[in-house]
Amino acid sequence: MSLRRWEWCLAAELLLLPLLLLATNTQDHLTSAMTVVSGSNVSLQISEGLPDNYEQLTWFYTIDQKIVEWDSGKSKYFDSKFKGRVMLDPQSGALNIYNVQKEDSSTYLMRVSNATGKEQEWKVLLEVLDPVRAPVIKIEKTEETNNICYLKLSCVISDQSVNCTWYGDSGPFSEACQNSALELRVPEPQKYSKFYTCQVSNPVSSKNDTVYFTPPCTLARSSGVDWIASWLVVIVPTILGLLLI
Ligand SMILES: *[C@@H]1O[C@H](CO)[C@@H](O)[C@H](O)[C@H]1NC(C)=O
Ligand SMILES: *[C@@H]1O[C@H](CO)[C@@H](O)[C@H](O)[C@H]1NC(C)=O
Ligand SMILES: *[C@@H]1O[C@H](CO)[C@@H](O)[C@H](O)[C@H]1NC(C)=O
Ligand SMILES: *[C@@H]1O[C@H](CO)[C@@H](O)[C@H](O)[C@H]1NC(C)=O
Repeated sequence: MSLRRWEWCLAAELLLLPLLLLATNTQDHLTSAMTVVSGSNVSLQISEGLPDNYEQLTWFYTIDQKIVEWDSGKSKYFDSKFKGRVMLDPQSGALNIYNVQKEDSSTYLMRVSNATGKEQEWKVLLEVLDPVRAPVIKIEKTEETNNICYLKLSCVISDQSVNCTWYGDSGPFSEACQNSALELRVPEPQKYSKFYTCQVSNPVSSKNDTVYFTPPCTLARSSGVDWIASWLVVIVPTILGLLLI
């Protein structure tokens, strides 16, 4: 073999090495990822069926923390923060976790082996998020000059890792609510709305606050309709009460 050729072979082998490592590793699968709201019940499971005739099945929270192990027909639950909150379904291999908390977020591992000792491993990604906290609209300024109403609203949000959008009666505005106020000059056709809503959301929840606009330049925290409704709730029983006396 000439030196050239030998060098070429070596290079080819070095290139192949990672491929070979990958090939021996194909028994690892990342099957699913889920994002849920804290307090929910989840079922971690793989989409494909379990291997036939498996002998042992283990769920791990992290690589060195076992949650439950199923062996020869018996489930053994380990001392972990999951104790009393998990239940293994040996039929499907699903790990049911009740009342999940933010700290339960992890890449869970399920390891299955059969009589020949052949192991397979699945990864299931779980992300637990708290629901967003309600935003509060702050009316920074309302000012009327020369029949132009100038409004400045800001949306106070307690958690920055949310998406925040302003809405009017014709849909969302392009302005984001994070760290910036909504400035309006009414009449300004695109911006005129009977209400202004600030909505915050994360992948699992959404909350909003609304203020109501009355021309020419008044903002109120509740609409007139709501006010009439609450007025009726008080007044009607009072009148009925008086009639009955
Ligand atoms: C979770 O499961 C428990 C027990 O089955 C049940 O009492 C509870 O209402 C469930 N919680 C939710 C959010 O579904
Ligand atoms: C064990 O698993 C391997 C790979 O999944 C499979 O090829 C083999 O047939 C299995 N052996 C038994 C006894 O089920
Ligand atoms: C915010 O919105 C973008 C685009 O819709 C989305 O990719 C992202 O995940 C959202 N972030 C949160 C915290 O909801
Ligand atoms: C605001 O929240 C209420 C319920 O709290 C919901 O009915 C309404 O659709 C939300 N509005 C927007 C613009 O998201």
